[in-house]
Amino acid sequence: MTVHFIGAGPGAADLITVRGRDLLGRCQVCLYAGSIVPAELLQYCPPEARLVDTAPLSLDEIEEEYIAATAHGQDVARLHSGDLSIWSAVAEQTRRLDRLGIAWTMTPGVPAFAGAAAALGRELTIPAIAQSLVLTRVSGRASPMPAGETLTGFGQTGATLAIHLAIHALDQIIAELTPLYGPTCPVAVVVRATCPDERVIRGTLADIAGRMAEAPAERTALVFVGPGLAAVGFQESALYDVDYQRRFRGRDAHNQPLARREVESGEPS
Ligand SMILES: C[S@@+](CC[C@H](N)C(=O)[O-])C[C@H]1O[C@@H](n2cnc3c(N)ncnc32)[C@H](O)[C@@H]1O
Repeated sequence: MTVHFIGAGPGAADLITVRGRDLLGRCQVCLYAGSIVPAELLQYCPPEARLVDTAPLSLDEIEEEYIAATAHGQDVARLHSGDLSIWSAVAEQTRRLDRLGIAWTMTPGVPAFAGAAAALGRELTIPAIAQSLVLTRVSGRASPMPAGETLTGFGQTGATLAIHLAIHALDQIIAELTPLYGPTCPVAVVVRATCPDERVIRGTLADIAGRMAEAPAERTALVFVGPGLAAVGFQESALYDVDYQRRFRGRDAHNQPLARREVESGEPS
């Protein structure tokens, strides 16, 4: 008997991985965070599967579900939104499973920041302008921020910030980041990325509060801040430059790089 933690993706049901979908089809029990995981995913569970919405449950009650499934010899699919590696509460569950001697696996999912970047239609790393992405949040009821992890601290790097669980704290974001990035710094808010009601609100640190006030969002939104979000006049990366000596690019008899069509596997990942 095994508990399979599965990243459900950011919202659209078809953004679960093939592995995650196949695991759902093999497990007799499915625990899912009903407040955020798309209900359409449950169609992949066997018809007779026990489906448990964990939104109203405590961690103790979730643990009881794992113990009961083990007693019945049943595998469990445990769905969490986005990917499992950030803000998924998986760590506290696997720690309990280890204590109980129950086996578990992790299957990654598409994180919300990636779904939101797709909604923006933007690469978040831009040559010479933005080469780091900080996935962060502000203090909330569920978990305080460690002392060193502040917006001001991250903002001093000038990196692109992807601020989660923070749509209620837009005023704080603006107040802390305007002195560092300047009032004209681009901001993008993506609400319910990849869902049918997805919304994108673009602005700057100076005007994003007014734009959001026209169409407020209460939750499930990501706030991006950074100069790379609106960069257009950036230099091209050297990756496709004809003079760039790519590792997989072959060379002809004159030691010249082969044309791209002659190269079997020269594409970057
Ligand atoms: C508890 S965290 C879960 C993060 C998730 N594990 C991930 O990989 O992205 C929930 C926060 O992620 C962000 N989020 C999750 N899904 C989103 C979506 N579809 N669109 C925008 N933001 C989303 C919001 O900031 C939300 O408050």
